[in-house]
Amino acid sequence: MTPPKPSMPDELGDLEKILVSREQIARRVGEMAGELAESYCGEELTILVVLTGALMVAADLVRKLPLKVLIEPVSVSSYPGLATRSEEPKFRLPLPEDLAGRNVLIVDDIFDSGQTMAILTEAAYVKGARSVRTCALLKKDRPDLPDRGGVDLYGFDIPDEFVVGYGLDFDGHYRNLPDIGVLARHARGGG
Ligand code: IMP
Ligand code: MG
Repeated sequence: MTPPKPSMPDELGDLEKILVSREQIARRVGEMAGELAESYCGEELTILVVLTGALMVAADLVRKLPLKVLIEPVSVSSYPGLATRSEEPKFRLPLPEDLAGRNVLIVDDIFDSGQTMAILTEAAYVKGARSVRTCALLKKDRPDLPDRGGVDLYGFDIPDEFVVGYGLDFDGHYRNLPDIGVLARHARGGG
């Protein structure tokens, strides 16, 4: 008898559709680790994990990285409460002091307006980092922001929709869903 597939009925019912499955995520995160291992070959890396959303991708990524790494949490708030568009980011956890001369890799769940990556990149250089690169699991299509800059390495292009799961939240919820999906209107309070 095949065991039943684990599910989270309450939360899965709030997804309109799945955009990126857990299998796709696992495969792509492995590829990303391979690309990083190649480009940082033999170097030491300081990974800044943008809390809380990047917890999952960072945890999976670092375990596939055959490099010497330091892992540091950083926190920038850009979605206060129920807002679903970025506002000016603020530091909630400051950057570590000892970044001088280090190769820094900033890992986030999603690249949206690009503000989070921009502010953290600048702050890491101000602390004396030797190199700063950015990595996000998702890159959201934002045709309204042609000048948002770029992300050095990312996993998947997604349309301009609000997504949750695998670390991504809505008002703190849904981070524990193993797949990434579009949150249904009713779950956003949109009726
Ligand atoms: P940015 O500064 O606009 O690039 O925003 C990046 C941050 O916004 C990410 O760290 C996410 O926490 C959050 N974010 C952007 N889009 C979404 C989304 O669709 N779902 C959940 N969080 C998002
Ligand atoms: Mg975030």
